[in-house]
Amino acid sequence: MPSMNETYANANNLEQIERDLLLEGIARHYGYDFREYATASLNRRICAIMEKEKLSSMTSLLERILHDPACMERFLENLTIHVTSMFRDPGFYRAVRTKAVPMLRTYPFIRIWVAGCSSGEEVYSTAILLREEGLYDRCRIYATDLSDEVIKRAQEGIFPLKSMRDYTRNYQQAGGKGDFSSYYTADHENAIFENALKENLTFSQHSLTADASFNEFNMVLCRNVLIYFSKSLQDRVFELLHGSLCSFGILGLGKKESLHFSPYERFYEELEPEQRLFRRVS
Ligand SMILES: C[S@@+](CC[C@H](N)C(=O)[O-])C[C@H]1O[C@@H](n2cnc3c(N)ncnc32)[C@H](O)[C@@H]1O
Repeated sequence: MPSMNETYANANNLEQIERDLLLEGIARHYGYDFREYATASLNRRICAIMEKEKLSSMTSLLERILHDPACMERFLENLTIHVTSMFRDPGFYRAVRTKAVPMLRTYPFIRIWVAGCSSGEEVYSTAILLREEGLYDRCRIYATDLSDEVIKRAQEGIFPLKSMRDYTRNYQQAGGKGDFSSYYTADHENAIFENALKENLTFSQHSLTADASFNEFNMVLCRNVLIYFSKSLQDRVFELLHGSLCSFGILGLGKKESLHFSPYERFYEELEPEQRLFRRVS
């Protein structure tokens, strides 16, 4: 008979086998690759999804996902975390204004990639900042996310009116130069951002873990995304971001992520250490 310890080890092992099979099945059937996401938060979210689906094992979740694309969509929406806000971490936008903008000014045309843009709040914030710095007319901002659902919302540029008070405060702390309310029209419960801000935005679904680079950029922003990846997956994504930046291009990772200890660290200089704003130097 197995000892208590052996029984516990077997159960853990079984759970890991089931999880690996679930992620393998999803990657092979749908092309979404979560196999190297950070384990702890991934496990928590899968358990929550099983509860919602009223299923008791990952194997039964896999069966449902493979045979029911609607279940896959629910899985995707619940697995990924879309929390975002306008001018999130205002210090980051101050750093972009003071450190990155003077460099961006030197280009006749500026291509920017916001990777993992969620529902677009970060993209509209960047567009506003560039407008205020007189650069927006010569910019194209490509905004991508794994989730089709959030990309559709991002394209609309409509955000809850009740968030505007917090966003106005963020905007001011970020060094906003105008009147934040002039960028949107209030309609019932919505703040509808002006169409002129959308003119130079291109939204598209793109996976940082499965898709290749699609252009060369003067600035890439990828904030609050890599925290969900394992170290080896982060390094693969750094390779993709590095290959997408032109020489002397700017990489904005935000406070929670860092190039430190990655093989790419040596190719960058820090423009603003606290906000993890880097410039590619070779
Ligand atoms: C927490 S949000 C961050 C949004 C925004 N960058 C910010 O800082 O506010 C993380 C986003 O990364 C996206 N994401 C997760 N895995 C991804 C992947 N493999 N490729 C592209 N986007 C991914 C999620 O769908 C989610 O919208």
